[in-house]
Amino acid sequence: MLPDDAGRLFYLATPPSLHGPIIEGLGGCGLNREGKWSRVVVEKPFGRDEGIARGLDDTIHRVFDEGQVFRNDHYLGKETTQNLLTLRFANAIFEPLWNRNYLDHVQITVSETVGVGHRAGYYDRSGVIRDMIQNHAFQLLLITAMEPPDRYDGKAIRDEKAKVLTALRPFVETSTILGQYAGYRDEPGVVEGSRTPTYAAIRCDIDYWRWKGVPFYVRSGKSLAEKRTEITLQFRDVPHHLFGDRHPDPNRLSIRIQPDEGMHVSFLTKVPGRGMMAQPATLNFDYSDRSGPDGLPDAYERLLLDALEDDPTLFARDDEVMRAWQVVDPLIGAAETGEAEPNVYRPGSWGPDTSALLEGRTWLVDCAPR
Ligand code: BG6
Repeated sequence: MLPDDAGRLFYLATPPSLHGPIIEGLGGCGLNREGKWSRVVVEKPFGRDEGIARGLDDTIHRVFDEGQVFRNDHYLGKETTQNLLTLRFANAIFEPLWNRNYLDHVQITVSETVGVGHRAGYYDRSGVIRDMIQNHAFQLLLITAMEPPDRYDGKAIRDEKAKVLTALRPFVETSTILGQYAGYRDEPGVVEGSRTPTYAAIRCDIDYWRWKGVPFYVRSGKSLAEKRTEITLQFRDVPHHLFGDRHPDPNRLSIRIQPDEGMHVSFLTKVPGRGMMAQPATLNFDYSDRSGPDGLPDAYERLLLDALEDDPTLFARDDEVMRAWQVVDPLIGAAETGEAEPNVYRPGSWGPDTSALLEGRTWLVDCAPR
């Protein structure tokens, strides 16, 4: 028995189907009310679709108050994700440009080199949209797209993120390319003939004043060429070309969440010597240069400490999670009924051909096409 003045934090890093029964069990034993305080951290994905997530939420709220619930998404615990808030809202130089007047598009890459490994039992029932897009990729999109909050706290930040979700158009198969890596169906635990997508590239439209006409392209997949999480903002071209007919590259700002956390701004500079030709150059900031001898803190450590300290800022709220399901559910439905078939791609490549989706744009890595 713990002393009465001890707090209790229950961390449910379990398959989603067990979240409900465990919570009911905690309530049945009175562990939701015992001690000085009692809190529960629930690992993503929270449910499998909006209906199941609402059912789970009802179960949770029969046992715990919303203030006791921390819906975990470890991408919010990553240092560079949080640094994006600092970049945007502690500097005067970026925010005036962070809108439809100056940006052509935004892209978010969350790529992995690993396949499903030993997790096929879970993954084959989930796929990339439930596993990565509805949560990790969305959180990056929300922090990139949100309006400035009036203060840094759980309510203000989560209110602004929820507004973006409300304005995010639900996904349909026409603005998506799904993929499955060759050999996926032979992985142990994957059902025969599985249509589960291991890759998705999606055009996201945010019906907001700030973002009207600025597509957000999001891609995520397993068995890809590199492990990398990166957000890139591509600026509009200059209105008039002084140095030749075509400038080599538009300006770009990339925020690398992992690996080698940092930021890069690409711009044009004069080719030295005679003539007036422009060439691309990059300003680089490596976040790890600023970390102490122990390196950057681990995302889970940071988030579990926040939950112990009762700080919900970097956890998803119930309305956020429900709306995120509403956005992805039509696409998941189309993938499951076979309306949106995954294209097979070679493991170790950058996934299937996405040129139809990008409308002449290209995917970027470190500010350069890749
Ligand atoms: C998990 C997913 O949430 O995130 C995994 O379930 C994925 O499939 C992992 O591999 C990626 O996390 P990270 O921190 O390695 O990018």
